[in-house]
Amino acid sequence: MTPTIALIGAAGHGRRHRQHIAELGDRVRLVALGEVQPMFGEALPVYTDHRLLLAEHKPDYVVICTPPHTHLRIALDAVRAGADLLLEKPPVLDLDAHQQLSAALAETGRRCQVGFQALGSPTLPALAALDLGELTHIAVAGAWWRPASYWTRSPWAGRRAVDGALVNPFAHALMQALDIGRVRPPWTLELERFRTRDIEVEDTAALRLTPAEGPVVTVAVTLASTGFIAGDITVTGTRGRAHVVYPQDRLDGVALPGRISLLENLLSGDPLIAPLERTLPFTALAEQIMASPDPVPITGVAVDDGIAIPGIADLVRAAAERHALLTEVGDLPCAS
Ligand SMILES: NC(=O)c1ccc[n+]([C@@H]2O[C@H](COP(=O)([O-])OP(=O)(O)OC[C@H]3O[C@@H](n4cnc5c(N)ncnc54)[C@H](O)[C@@H]3O)[C@@H](O)[C@H]2O)c1
Repeated sequence: MTPTIALIGAAGHGRRHRQHIAELGDRVRLVALGEVQPMFGEALPVYTDHRLLLAEHKPDYVVICTPPHTHLRIALDAVRAGADLLLEKPPVLDLDAHQQLSAALAETGRRCQVGFQALGSPTLPALAALDLGELTHIAVAGAWWRPASYWTRSPWAGRRAVDGALVNPFAHALMQALDIGRVRPPWTLELERFRTRDIEVEDTAALRLTPAEGPVVTVAVTLASTGFIAGDITVTGTRGRAHVVYPQDRLDGVALPGRISLLENLLSGDPLIAPLERTLPFTALAEQIMASPDPVPITGVAVDDGIAIPGIADLVRAAAERHALLTEVGDLPCAS
């Protein structure tokens, strides 16, 4: 019998999941949607209460693409209803929630794939096959442009303890860097967070993570840049260095084919690419970031429909090259 799937959180990024499910043809049958917003003209049954959906359809699989603070409740209900999950990133917001979901998975024997699609990148095994020696440093640089509307796109956008450049748009970069270095807590975190606008979280940030064991990870990212850095990860070992551009699956300048789809991997029954356990270091770091002091306001310049920080892409690149924080390589325009 064709396995069944439900999509909870259907009106935002969930539309991409729906498209992907449709592309899988008769390998899986989408039976119901969970969505609290009205879905006019929808042919499938739509439930505002996910528990009713689970009780009535008992789907084999559930994709959860709701705001991050709702993930834990829905995920616990879905695994207890007998479903395997594709749970969007960030899977949960703290280690306590991670433990609760891990325990529920162990109890029920269900599986949870987390939506860190960059973990399905062919660059990861190719990188591991390079002879870089013992890894000493991993540096991430990202400089993107997000207009004002980005921060009003959803009720949770720009909100404390749920959003922010590090834990949301650059979550893939963070996860990738931690995973490449096999970095796990305990660690020492140095963190700086800045905001150019009236939001509760950072749009520009840097961190340096020094683990008890493993390479030092530095990250410098911004969403207020007119210059573009896709998401570059420089991996340095005792015998060499390599560069990954994670959104494009590029390793040392060459785009590698063969990214594995998280949903197909989940449906196949093969070992999961992004099981919850693999994401524990990300959640540990996200918890610390979200519990840190509020971001420091800085001044940018108005550009089109947003605010840009002049020269920030160069600063981000310099921070990555020197394994430094942003303030260690230059001055940011502090708000008066
Ligand atoms: N993997 C990726 O690259 C990627 C990209 C974008 C978003 N995401 C993640 O996907 C998730 C959703 O993000 P988004 O941008 O679509 O957010 P969004 O706010 O635009 O959409 C979330 C949807 O969930 C619905 N919703 C909220 N509470 C619900 C509930 N209890 N039951 C059913 N529906 C509910 C909302 O009405 C909304 O339509 C987040 O975790 C986000 O980080 C991942």
